[in-house]
Amino acid sequence: MIERTRCSDFSAANIGQQVRLNGWVQTNRDHGGVTFIDVRDRFGLVQIVAHPDTPEVHLLAQSLRQQDVVEVTGKVIARSPETVNAKLATGEIEVSVTHIHVQNRAKTPPFTLDDDCDAGEQHRLEYRYLDLRRPVMQRRMVLRHKVTHAARNFLDSQSFLEIETPILNKSTPEGARDYLVPSRTYPGSCFALPQSPQIFKQLLMVAGMDRYFQIARCFRDEDLRADRQPEFTQVDLEMSFVDQEDVMRVAEGLISAMLKAGLGVKLDTPFARINYHEAMDKYGLDKPDMRFGLPHTDISDLMRKVEFKVFREPAEKGGLVKVLHVPGGASLSRKQIDDYTKFVGIYGAKGLAWIKVNDITNIPDGLQSPIVKFLPEDVLREILDRVNAANGDLLFFGAGDAKVVNDALGNLRNELGRDLKLYEEKAHSFVWVVDFPMFGWNADEKRLEALHHPFTAPVAEDMSLLRSEPLAMRSQAYDLVWNGTEIGGGSIRIHDQEMQAAVFDAMGISETEAQSKFGFLLDALQYGAPPHGGLAFGLDRVLALMLGTDSIRDVIPFPKTQRAADLMCQAPSEVSDAQLQELGLRRSRL
Ligand code: AMO
Ligand code: AMP
Repeated sequence: MIERTRCSDFSAANIGQQVRLNGWVQTNRDHGGVTFIDVRDRFGLVQIVAHPDTPEVHLLAQSLRQQDVVEVTGKVIARSPETVNAKLATGEIEVSVTHIHVQNRAKTPPFTLDDDCDAGEQHRLEYRYLDLRRPVMQRRMVLRHKVTHAARNFLDSQSFLEIETPILNKSTPEGARDYLVPSRTYPGSCFALPQSPQIFKQLLMVAGMDRYFQIARCFRDEDLRADRQPEFTQVDLEMSFVDQEDVMRVAEGLISAMLKAGLGVKLDTPFARINYHEAMDKYGLDKPDMRFGLPHTDISDLMRKVEFKVFREPAEKGGLVKVLHVPGGASLSRKQIDDYTKFVGIYGAKGLAWIKVNDITNIPDGLQSPIVKFLPEDVLREILDRVNAANGDLLFFGAGDAKVVNDALGNLRNELGRDLKLYEEKAHSFVWVVDFPMFGWNADEKRLEALHHPFTAPVAEDMSLLRSEPLAMRSQAYDLVWNGTEIGGGSIRIHDQEMQAAVFDAMGISETEAQSKFGFLLDALQYGAPPHGGLAFGLDRVLALMLGTDSIRDVIPFPKTQRAADLMCQAPSEVSDAQLQELGLRRSRL
């Protein structure tokens, strides 16, 4: 039998050749007694034609239904000029069929398997194997392959070793809840699935591997959003004898290689940098979208002296009052402003005061606003000066707890950037956020916690603040942000056992607890651990951004739902009493 030809490997050059193709029936049409069938495989689509003058084949062709699996042999012929389809790679030719073998019949699929299928996502997830047959999904999987492949090649070219680390693990403290796997051989004990390969990659540095990488599956039992899955993939790496600059340089090369493979774009490196405090002050978020301006201005100091309680109280009590200046924003309607007020409510803001600047020479009458009456003229003038306002501008105000104000105005800024079309959709803006604080304050547990993870090294000169002013300490951690999404993060690690123990201690982790949780790491640090650091990119997020899709589910072959379930396999599922018994577990009677 002749070799299979892929449905993409045809052109006018093949006219006259005998071919065999295998694939799925996409459509079956009858035109004046002649049957036209589109056959699709992963590589493309070819039109085949069956004439009534070969009655047996024609009859079989007529019987073919959508998604039947066929093997077709025939001759490549030119299409008549009026039927040439310029949009199709194989649009100049068709295959005049001499033989059809139906390799498998298909039930009618529950939704149409083409690019503009309008089936709901739930339905598509239930039949993911059919959803994946749609060309758009096939293209996404091809992109995933290409980008992963480019990452591997790049890291290989930089002397990284691809090394697998265990899936059955002891928990690594990365902030999320662990997925646990009960042990049969140690009843009552559990493994944890890795939230990331963090500790193992550090141990590989102690083991002298110098440069490690892994396309690593990570598991986190956390509240899900469009950009978070319980099971996701990192391009994870670690390097010995490096500083922050070395890791960032390699990471820039890596992401550039991935974008080149995926989008064909060449990025300019090095990327811009912003320190954490500047990002928070100017943009309210630690993942600022730098494609446009609209910076925030802090006016807390001015508000301490005003009567207006809504603004004075937060300013006096360690909160924040900020302005978001929107040039030309006075044209926003009352309804739009009301919608933005609702929007900031999502982030806990109690209101969204505003001022429209109609005539800057006439204060206060030239200002239209619900709050102008509460603010003295000199203060109004100072605010307008600080933000450099002009006629036709709009100022939004956020007042309250610092986190709420930053979240609200930070996300409002992104919303405005999009709504007012302040940037090109296709622009790529990469920025490193550096100088993160070492610790945050966990108000519920009343203790310090690591902002990145507890293995992150402090900035050397800040180590002296560990006892006196730990919240002022900076860490050697860095995040890479692409168009306002955090796509990766990493740090230089602590490679000194005493420093690691001191950091655990500062976080209220007792020596006994540290020993029982990470004794093996503390031990390893005493056997010649080299200075090391690394980073991990969220592969799914990178791919979703490349494709401009809202959800990382679109780039994951078999994703979970927002409630962390697999609708196709119906997982998680109940297990038998016998299985539970073997694991020393009993079903709880809820
Ligand atoms: P981090 O927790 O910042 O760092 O994760 C690195 C990157 O992984 C992606 N990511 C996710 N993607 C999808 N779903 C999730 N639930 C999810 N959580 C995280 C993000 C993030 O930037 N061990 C460290 C890295 C290091 O220090 O080297 C770590 O895991 O894009
Ligand atoms: P009120 O006196 O509560 O009616 O508020 C007057 C204006 O201040 C309204 O435009 C509110 O939206 C706004 N406002 C109220 N609380 C806040 C806040 N925490 N931050 C910003 N604006 C607020």
